[in-house]
Amino acid sequence: MTYRILPDLLPLAIPPGLTVPDGYAAGSHRAWSTAEDKVTSLVRRHPDRFPLYTSGGRWQLDGEAWTNWCEGFLGGQLWLLAARTGKPELSALAEHYSLLIKGREHDREVHDLGFLFWPTWRRWYEATGRPELDATVVQAGRTMAMRFNPKGRYLRSFLAPDSLFIDIMMNVGVVFHAARRTGDQELARIAYEHCLTTRRTLIRGDGSASHEGVFDLGTGAFLRQSTQQGHQDDGSWARGQGWAIHGFCTAYRYTGDRRFLRTAQDCADFYLERTGAALVPPNDWEEPDPALPVESSAAAIAAGGLWRLAGLVGDEVRARGYADYALRILTRLCEPRFLSHGDPAWEGVLRHGIYHQGKGLGVDESVMWGDYWFLDALDAVDRHLTGSA
Ligand code: GLY
Repeated sequence: MTYRILPDLLPLAIPPGLTVPDGYAAGSHRAWSTAEDKVTSLVRRHPDRFPLYTSGGRWQLDGEAWTNWCEGFLGGQLWLLAARTGKPELSALAEHYSLLIKGREHDREVHDLGFLFWPTWRRWYEATGRPELDATVVQAGRTMAMRFNPKGRYLRSFLAPDSLFIDIMMNVGVVFHAARRTGDQELARIAYEHCLTTRRTLIRGDGSASHEGVFDLGTGAFLRQSTQQGHQDDGSWARGQGWAIHGFCTAYRYTGDRRFLRTAQDCADFYLERTGAALVPPNDWEEPDPALPVESSAAAIAAGGLWRLAGLVGDEVRARGYADYALRILTRLCEPRFLSHGDPAWEGVLRHGIYHQGKGLGVDESVMWGDYWFLDALDAVDRHLTGSA
């Protein structure tokens, strides 16, 4: 069997006639200036450090991390800010924070090499066109592919060989990228099979995503769904839902395989149905009376995923539905409840994120990936609205 990788990513075609909420333009402007302020203060005060989450609004430099997955998100914000502002000092910082992770493209301990290298070295390559920068991203994809379990046909999580996480859908793009750049069919097979296994074992009939799947290492058989960061094993962890929407859109853009587009739509429809006018979900939709009503990073990730889906789905009515919802999420996140604009005591950008509720890490705080994916989504939307996409 040939695993088809398209020569170019499928383009995004956002339909005309969107309903841009009144507060969007001013909110986005506030968000970018808040991010510039917070990120430059952080790198000035704590050079070369990579905090994951705040405590009482202050970045925790030595907070317990569970796993080492976030070192691309600070450099990624710097690249986004550099592109937005054109300031050479921000480009210099972005390069510096990218160089700090040099070597991790060979890291076999984590399943997060997409999170590390796409926001940083890939953006650096896009800014300069220097081929050796993209070669590092390709190496990250090759290293990710070494996580493949051939019997279960999935990329194993950092946790254990029998464990598959929904989060890996957000990192498999780097394997597709390496396959496309090198023409290596084995890399294409691994990326493709991982997505098909995730679709078969983690995505349910109602479109909800399980956080984790556990496999029999002897036979490769799928055994059960489980969770690490959601409320219960058959729960619906909201950030995982965002990873699924985004990740299946990426798989579709690399392959043109409409099964991945349909799965992204199912995941998106579940998010919309269960979140409705609230726009920002709790940590897990199945948690009865959640202690905290919102997880802002899940909303930021979903907004970016819904925006991409709107550009891929084809049907204009559906596409406008996804794009309008994404715009409403982002406008909500730019309101004072979430955006730390004008609050010098709060060091992150977005409040009310959650890292790991069960372990009590980064609960109701700013989280570094929430700030990054928020800017990434604003960037995609703003480029479209200003005609610079
Ligand atoms: N483990 C990645 C996440 O917290 O989403």
